[in-house]
Order: sequence, then C-alpha cells, then structure tokens
Amino acid sequence: MLKTFENREGWIWYDGKFIEWNNAKSHIISQGLHYASAVFEGERAYNGTIFKSVEHTQRFFKSAETVGIKIPYSQEEINQAKEELIKKMNYKDCYVRPFAWRGSNLMGLSTTHSNIHVSIAVWDDWTTYYKLEDMKDGLSLITSPWKRPPPDSIPFEAKASGPYLICTLSKSFAEENGYNEALMLDYRGLIAEATSSNIFLIKEKEIHTPIPDCFLNGITRQTVIEMVKNQGYNLIERYIKPEELKNFDEVFLTGTAAEITPVKSIDSYKFLTGDKSTTFQFMKDYRDLVTKS
Ligand SMILES: Cc1ncc(COP(=O)(O)O)c(C=O)c1O
Repeated sequence: MLKTFENREGWIWYDGKFIEWNNAKSHIISQGLHYASAVFEGERAYNGTIFKSVEHTQRFFKSAETVGIKIPYSQEEINQAKEELIKKMNYKDCYVRPFAWRGSNLMGLSTTHSNIHVSIAVWDDWTTYYKLEDMKDGLSLITSPWKRPPPDSIPFEAKASGPYLICTLSKSFAEENGYNEALMLDYRGLIAEATSSNIFLIKEKEIHTPIPDCFLNGITRQTVIEMVKNQGYNLIERYIKPEELKNFDEVFLTGTAAEITPVKSIDSYKFLTGDKSTTFQFMKDYRDLVTKS
C-alpha cells in the first residue's frame, strides 16, 4: 500500500526547526491555501547529495521575490537545512520539497503584513515519477485544452503554486482520457511543455526544444541542453507548431521529478517506432551525470 503524505514517520524542517512529520500542520485559514500565495521547489538528491542544490535555492528565492514573498532565512540556511534534513531522514536518494507560503494572520488579498512560513520536506517514494513500465515503453500524451498564458498574465519564471492549477487541470484531462500526460500549448498555440516537465524533440542529430518565453526554463532542461551540445548534437531552440510533430523520430520530457522520460505518442503522432534509441542513451547519460556530480 502507498504511504500517505499526511501520515508518516520522520521530520520536516518548519520555520527553522525540525519537527515531527505528523506535527507539521497549518491552519485552514491561510492565504497560501486560499489564494495559492505560495512558491516551492522540486529537487533530487542522489547518493545523499542534491543535484544543483544551490541553483534550486536561488530559483526558490527568485520565485518568492517575484510573488512578493520575503523568505526570512538566508540561502545558506536553506541549503544547510536541506542537507541536515536528508541526513536526519537517513536518505540517500530522495525528492526534496522546499515550500514558502503566506500564513494565517490575515485574510483577503492584501499581503503587506502577511506572515511568511517556510518548510522543507523530503521523501523517497518517487524513485521514478512515472510508473516503470510507462518509462520503458514511453508515455502517451494528449494535447490539453488548457494553455500556458502570455507572460504579462502571470509571472511564468516563478515556480509559484497559482499557475499549477493549469497543470492540474491538464493532467486530470489526460488521465480522464486514458493518457499518462498532457502536452500544453501556449497562448499562441505553440508547443510549450508537459504538466511538470519540459519537452525535447529529436530528428537525427538535431534536437529541437521550444523557447521558454512563457513557461519554466527547467534546471533539468538547461542541464540536458548542455549535455547534448557536449555530445555534438545540434540543439535548436525555436517556436514549434504542433503540426510539426510529424517530422520527429523521438520525443522526451525533462524535469527534476521526471528526469528524462521517453514519449511514445502525442495525440495521433507516434514516436520511438524504429530502433532509434537516442532517448534511452540520454536517460543513461543523465543518470551518470547526476550521480557523479
Ligand atoms: C511546469 C513545469 N515545467 C518544467 C519543469 C521542469 O523544471 P526542473 O527541470 O527545474 O525541475 C517543472 C518541474 O519543476 C514544472 O513543474
């Protein structure tokens, strides 16, 4: 049986202290809960070390600043807390979730005097984000009716809770229709990303990926771009129309949770049909990279 997240043993770093997992509670009246006034990070530790921990913390603080949340700790304190928590939980490989939110002292949308809370939780359940059999065969995607909004509608570079409603709706749409994931287009109708990952498309030695001008430029995305360029691939960032999907041999998703995940289909377009397995090679290369650094 799957462990629930509300009831498990262990520790959570909560406002500067380690407290027991089951005591990490917050009042139901909370601006974070009611208005999604919150930001978070998603990170992975391999062999006890968080991959790009400093970069994730920098993004955490940038996200907070973007939505006007002032984190009452230094970046060094957060980095140290993450490390100590992983040790305290006795984990080697785990997912790391820093979270900052506006608390319960006020209701309404005025945030000038809101209390800010910060927590960090870690868990080892997400060995792979998707089921192993789906990772082997590749995911099936359906195009979501929900679109990534224009950059002047919501701050897209912040990993803020609010915009995740678009991802939740898209993911539910995919699952209700029997698919593993959703492809989200942007407000222009161009290919954007999946619900918690960026997208890459392969055609022989060329790898294409959309320009992140209205969605998160993932840390994994940036890592993979550098990795494939170092391997001599021609990496092309450009605007990609959905009807161009017919031109590609392979498609994969990248994200901290998803790592590199192959895609077998998007709507009626099929990939990985021949014996081409560049994606599977990249999955191995990425693993080597994150476990060695
Ligand atoms: C919507 C969305 N896009 C992209 C990503 C990939 O980002 P990263 O590689 O930094 O985890 C994530 C995961 O955080 C995400 O939630």
